[in-house]
Amino acid sequence: MSAEDPAGGTASQDAASLDPLAGREIILGVSGGVAAYKAAAVASLLVKRSAGVTAVLTKAARRFVGEPTFAALTSRPVATRVFEPERYPLGAHIELVTKADLLLVAPASADLLAKAACGLADDLVSTLMLSAECPVIVAPAMNAAMWEKPAVQRNVHQLLEDGVGVIGPERGWLACRRNGAGRMAEPEAIAEVLAGVLAGGPLPQPAAD
Ligand SMILES: Cc1cc2nc3c(=O)[nH]c(=O)nc-3n(C[C@H](O)[C@H](O)[C@H](O)COP(=O)(O)O)c2cc1C
Repeated sequence: MSAEDPAGGTASQDAASLDPLAGREIILGVSGGVAAYKAAAVASLLVKRSAGVTAVLTKAARRFVGEPTFAALTSRPVATRVFEPERYPLGAHIELVTKADLLLVAPASADLLAKAACGLADDLVSTLMLSAECPVIVAPAMNAAMWEKPAVQRNVHQLLEDGVGVIGPERGWLACRRNGAGRMAEPEAIAEVLAGVLAGGPLPQPAAD
């Protein structure tokens, strides 16, 4: 049981009300990579800190982690399609962003980064990146060879120039069984960055190697 504080609330209620994530609306875009399993932990952490989270999965993301996982963790239906007139008559890319305080794409695949850098909008996650009026942050994840490709670096540079925040990636053990750069930032670190941005801090930029 939580201890009462002198003002009559509880210490845990106070902590929640001070948390910049509490009561905020976050769209969590998930694209197709092995790190999609870590996106489930991101969703769980954000919900635990009293954020409202709507998960949006690309077709490839759904091959890595199923919709029921995100639906259960967020206690909301998962959005996957641009065209879903029964649920979103105006289009999910409009209705979801109207309420959103922040759009996070984690993991952000090389493909998603390329589409976003070009302004393509051929699925719901990339369309949301264009229609968002809130801060947009991506957490890239891919193998080191992909991450080091000039094309990927160009796309990340373009996104930074366009005002998109970038978290990571980190160096470490990769799903391709190699150590290198490309590992998605850890869920706890991502949640902290989001809290900082929602508290009015700057958008994250990757640390120079
Ligand atoms: C086992 C496996 C792992 C993959 N991991 C990654 C990854 O970590 N990062 C990445 O950018 N692409 C990865 N891919 C490739 C993407 O899934 C593929 O480019 C896909 O088209 C991305 O689609 P999306 O951006 O619409 O989600 C992987 C593919 C497979 C089969």
